[in-house]
This record gives sequence, structure tokens and C-alpha cells, in this order.
Amino acid sequence: MCGIIGAVAQRNVAPILIEGLKRLEYRGYDSAGVALLQQQEIHRIRTTGRVVTLEEAVRKQGAHGITGIAHTRWATHGAPTEDNAHPHVSGGIAVVHNGIIENHEVLRAELRQAGYVFVSQTDTEVIAHLVHFYFKTSQDLFAATREAVARLHGAYAIGVVCNSMPNKLVAARQGSPLLIGVGVEEHFIASDASALLPVTQRFIYLEDGDIAEIGLTSIAVQDKNGQPAEREIMQSEMRPEMVELGEYRHYMQKEIHEQPRALSDTLQELVTNGIQPMLYGPEGESVLSSIERITFLACGTSYHAALTARYWIEALAGIPCNAEIASEYRYRTSVPDPKALIVTISQSGETADTLSALKHAQSLGHNYSLAICNVSESALVRESRLNMITRAGPEIGVASTKAFTTQLAALFTLALVLAKLRGKIDAAAEQKHLEALRALPGQMQRVLALEGQIQKWSEHFAEKQHALFLGRGLHYPIALEGALKLKEISYIHAEAYPAGELKHGPLALVDKDMPVIAIAPNDALLEKLKSNLQEVRARGGELYVVVDEDTHIQEMDEIHKITLPLHAGWLSPILHVVPLQMLSYHAALQKGTDVDKPRNLAKSVTVE
Ligand code: G6P
Repeated sequence: MCGIIGAVAQRNVAPILIEGLKRLEYRGYDSAGVALLQQQEIHRIRTTGRVVTLEEAVRKQGAHGITGIAHTRWATHGAPTEDNAHPHVSGGIAVVHNGIIENHEVLRAELRQAGYVFVSQTDTEVIAHLVHFYFKTSQDLFAATREAVARLHGAYAIGVVCNSMPNKLVAARQGSPLLIGVGVEEHFIASDASALLPVTQRFIYLEDGDIAEIGLTSIAVQDKNGQPAEREIMQSEMRPEMVELGEYRHYMQKEIHEQPRALSDTLQELVTNGIQPMLYGPEGESVLSSIERITFLACGTSYHAALTARYWIEALAGIPCNAEIASEYRYRTSVPDPKALIVTISQSGETADTLSALKHAQSLGHNYSLAICNVSESALVRESRLNMITRAGPEIGVASTKAFTTQLAALFTLALVLAKLRGKIDAAAEQKHLEALRALPGQMQRVLALEGQIQKWSEHFAEKQHALFLGRGLHYPIALEGALKLKEISYIHAEAYPAGELKHGPLALVDKDMPVIAIAPNDALLEKLKSNLQEVRARGGELYVVVDEDTHIQEMDEIHKITLPLHAGWLSPILHVVPLQMLSYHAALQKGTDVDKPRNLAKSVTVE
């Protein structure tokens, strides 16, 4: 989703802004633009399509400046055209914005009355005119921005520059991510840290309602009440090479192959120190001992992690769980339970729906919250009482892979902690679980070695329009995740069903053109699943089955089989999802789609 970058320096910032935009590309966008301050003039260049097109235009026009802002836009209000691309300009003011201004129509009417002419269909243009409107009176960019944002309803992260004030940048956030990069006699703003890694690793994370006035050597932040606020400078652990592609063709491929490392990093503390509630923070024990049920809130792939966790926690710890799509929970009249733990799951920790769902739960009186998140400085982590940070490292590919398997590892850990607190596992069982977790990265490596076989499967998918994924029990959410991966990046319509539901509808779709992908681990449901597979074969459906080494399913004409190591027990979903990730990756390669930046999608969905 939209990406923002800005800089005040004593050198030409155009290359820094373009490099930053490239690093934000993964968020998803359809147009890009930059505004550079040059001798009291704003030089603005905007293009549709990729950042390289903008880079070329900047080079051709020789655009440069010591202060500037830039943006990648993911269209919401108005088509992805040059006119709608950011920065938006009013008089000498230029603005970039991420978020949605809900009252833009009212403000637009008011500003029209005041004589402003609108040249785009965006909600952002009202911000540029509003800042200009207030600036005319005060000639103070910070004060004008503060007055303007006080009029806005909705979510925003904005960067503002003014042609009469070189070396000044004003930034504000409410609901959308924004941070300040601290350099030596130069400062920056960006939607996330990865955009600024070539220039700094020191960051200030702005809080909701903050407005900052940023100069070459000064950063002054005011909080939502207009009071000066001290915001800590944090040193990021992220290194520039973590977001580089290296030997891989795509980030998704790199991230799939990073999973053994990501899992062992995520599990390191657990396998070294054993199962303990402190893993979730100092209040871990008191909160986790007090709760009587769990509500999971998440979106997309993270929601599938929640669905899997429900099976683990109910079975191992005996705590009732429900998993809800965050955007549904938020607007549903639910019955609050003060003894419920609200667990949000998110790779980015900035997904607007998940964040709002947490705030909604808090407003209903829910006091116990836990965030499972891949970004330690994110809003979701800051808003939650407990947290567990997955150690997947930055995930760039839009289709989530290593974030998912590390979320599963963190959630299985949660099941163990809760089970131990309730006396449901003894020392021997604890050791067995820890051994299984220690073995997991190695087993994952063996699954990754199956890539050649999966690639062969994928050749059958290039011409397909539809696919059906089946799983049972713990592996039903994995079927859902397999279907989501396939549709996200290969644009093949895919659905997932619990295999037992097949005969209640989807069986009508099965014929020779509908590949059916089944997850068939050697668990208690295997025999039931085998019957479901017979139902498919009897209708001429072609089966692609992912089995464990000890599952006895014969490969034959219409049954293709890929065999994973011995059944991994409770941890089996973490392994079984990997072939499905690789299948969607290779199917997308067959179809020639843009794997890391699939059409219409965004990595970090910071609007509702
Ligand atoms: C977007 C991404 C998905 C992701 C979902 C939730 O839709 O494209 O890959 O699963 O957001 O994101 P989160 O950061 O909250 O896990």
C-alpha cells in the first residue's frame, strides 16, 4: 500500500528518494511521484507504473534538490493516473499521504467555496489545499499542518514541504505508519525502516496524533494534545542485506527458502530456556493464567495462522478459542468477555483492520491482549499488553510465506505455554515437544528439497482456470492458505474446503479440468480423507496429493503424489504448507505473473 519517503539534507536527495521508493515497492502501488525543492521552486515529477519509469524521468529532467518528498500510490480514490499520483501541490505546498480521509467530500466543498480548484479525484488533494489555506495566514508550515490535520477524519501519514522553506519537512501520523530516520545533519521520513537502511539505522517511531517539524539538525515532535513529546531514537537490528535479493530470482522464492532459519530464530528462546510465559513479556504469567478463552483477530494469511492455532490450543490447553477476520469483528456486535485474551496476528503490525479490531476490543473492555507480530516497533505491538515477535526478518514478497510459518511456530509455543500453566503437560511431554520443535528446521529443509517435483506439478497448472484444495482438521487452514497463495500470485481461481464438505456442494465442480490438491498427512483423519479422494476420482478429477512418508496412497494415472518426511504430529501443518507455497510460486512462474508484486494487491494494507 502507499509508501512515503522524505528527506532534508545538504546533498541532492533525489537518488535517496528514488532508492527509498524502490525499497517500498513491495508494499504494492500503481503510480509514483517526487517533489524536490530547487531554488524556491517545487519540481514535481509523477508517472504511472513502476518506480524505474519515475527514476528515468528524474534523470532525464536532471531533477535535484536538498529537500524533497516522494510517494508510491496504491489507488483508492481515483484511478491510477498521473493527475491522481502524489505529491499533490497547492501554491508552494507539496504533500504526500498514506491513508484515507473520510470527510474529504465535505472539505472539498468548503475549499471550493474558498476558491480552490481541484485537479485530481484524490482525497489527498484536500490536505494540500487545507495546509495552504492555513499557511497563507500564519506563514508557519508546522502550525498550518497542525491546523489542517485537526480537520481530518480518517487515517493518515503525511509529509509536507513548502517552497519558501528549504531544509524543512513536516510529518504527521494518525492510524498509518510513519517514522523519522535520524542521520548526521540530515533527517528523513518513511513508511517503514527498510526504505532508509542505506542512509540510517536510527529511527524514531511516531505515535498516533504526533506532528513533527524536521530540520537538518533538529527534530521537534508534538503529541496529539499539542504538547512537546520526547520520542526515543531506536537502533534498528535490520541490516541492508536482509532486504536484498542475493542469489534468488524473487523475494518470494528467497523467503520460502529462508524458512528453516526463520523458524530456528523464532524458536531459539523457547528451545533454549524451555516453555515459560515470560516469552510473552513480564506480565506473561499473570495474564495467561487469568484468561478463560481466546479470540484471535487477523487478516489474510495471518487469519489462517489463527485458524490453525485454534486446533492446537483447544486440544493441548483445553481453552476455548474463536478466530475472526478482523474487519468482520470490528463491525459486529459481539459479546465482550473480560476473561478473554485478544490475540492479534500480523506480519506487519500495521494492518488497519487488525489494528482497529484490537482498539474496538479494548473499547469493549477487553484488557488482555497479545500481539504475534514480525515487526517489534509496530503499532500493534505497542498497543498490546503482551507480545511475541516472530523472527522471520523483513518479508518483501506480497504473498506471505516465512511470516506464516513463524506465526505458526509462535502460536504452537503459545499452546504449550497455556497447557503448561494449566498443568496439562508434564516434564516428559515438555521435552518431547521441545525435541520436535528442535527438529523442525531440519525437516523443513528436507521439504524444500522437493522443489523439483513441485515444479513439475506446476507445469500442469499453467493452463488451468480453477483449483480445489482439500484438507481436514489441522490441515484445513493449510488448504485455505494453499488456495490463497495460488490465487494471489498466479491469478488461478482457487477454493479450499474441509474434505468432509466436498459432497455438500463443491463435488459438483469436479471434472477433468479441475485439479484437486489434497493434504493427506498420516493423522487420525487419513482414512476419512482417502474416502473423500475416492469421491474425486470417481468423478474424473485429477488429484495432487501431499502425503507423509508413512501414508499409504499409491501414485497412479490420476493421482500425483509428493511425499514429505515422517508425520510430524502437531507440527505437521508447518511442513505441509511449504509444498503449497512452492506450487503457487512455480505456477506463477509458468504463467509469467509479477510474483513479488501481484496485480491489485498490497503487502501492508494500511487502509480499511
Ligand atoms: C495483505 C497481504 C497478505 C497478508 C495480509 C495481512 O493482504 O498481501 O499477505 O496476509 O495483508 O497482513 P498482516 O501484515 O496483518 O499479516
